[in-house]
Amino acid sequence: MLCSLNEQEEMNMRFDGKCAIVTGAGRGIGMATALLLAKEGASVVAVDVSEAGLAELEAQLRALHADYRLAACDVSDERAVRMMAAEAIACYGKVDILVNNAGIYRDQLMPFVEQSSALWRRKMEINVLGMMDLTQAVLPQMIERRYGKIINVASVAGVYGLSNMVDYSATKGAQISFSLALAKEVGPYEINVNAVSPGNINTYGESPQLSYFGRSGTAEECANVIAFLASDEAHYVSGQNYVVDGCRKTL
Ligand SMILES: NC(=O)c1ccc[n+]([C@@H]2O[C@H](COP(=O)([O-])OP(=O)(O)OC[C@H]3O[C@@H](n4cnc5c(N)ncnc54)[C@H](O)[C@@H]3O)[C@@H](O)[C@H]2O)c1
Repeated sequence: MLCSLNEQEEMNMRFDGKCAIVTGAGRGIGMATALLLAKEGASVVAVDVSEAGLAELEAQLRALHADYRLAACDVSDERAVRMMAAEAIACYGKVDILVNNAGIYRDQLMPFVEQSSALWRRKMEINVLGMMDLTQAVLPQMIERRYGKIINVASVAGVYGLSNMVDYSATKGAQISFSLALAKEVGPYEINVNAVSPGNINTYGESPQLSYFGRSGTAEECANVIAFLASDEAHYVSGQNYVVDGCRKTL
């Protein structure tokens, strides 16, 4: 049976009535994810340390007539993270979807032996500890409601290990194993925990030589996989790491 465009749009509203927190939503993969979830009906709590990034996102959320809240928050600040999570739960009565996407990786590429410990401590604080703090802050109400979708944006660096990005690789490996282990703990409550590991994504430009597709991926291509894992279509998928790398060439 044929249906109108409006009916099709309604059928595609996978996240109607759902509340999603997306970190690192002011740019790149996080922004694309926040927009996709909002487009398909989610109320989005968009978290970023960059107020400029949030302002850019807000303009697009407004154009979608989306329901959203902006939270200028550094995910490495445990107190701020827990406060932000409590406010989101108070505002919407629940958090159904958590996308831990905020991460840093573009500071300095260098051999580990030359690196300062301040750099890797910072990456650990944001990429790993921020994810852990926020996840713990939203989990109790997910457990109580026996509903929750947690997606941690890791990296192929955490699967293969990348030279000159040893500290980053360590944080991403930690995110993947955190996801696999937590999935086992919360599986009995039917809460899904998965990791998504992008390869080279063009948020800062092209690297066609890294993929057999001959191009980098897009933020939207990552967001599609994140949204799938956040949806009930993927309800029996948990404890997995989805690699999104266009068939990466080298290890
Ligand atoms: N782009 C890629 O090629 C690629 C590849 C593999 C993995 N990833 C991972 O995907 C995620 C997103 O990557 P991206 O390319 O979209 O990044 P990006 O740099 O384009 O955007 C990251 C966003 O996170 C925000 N952020 C950084 N530190 C923060 C903090 N302490 N608190 C709150 N927000 C903070 C930034 O302000 C920015 O808006 C990261 O975790 C990254 O490690 C990206």
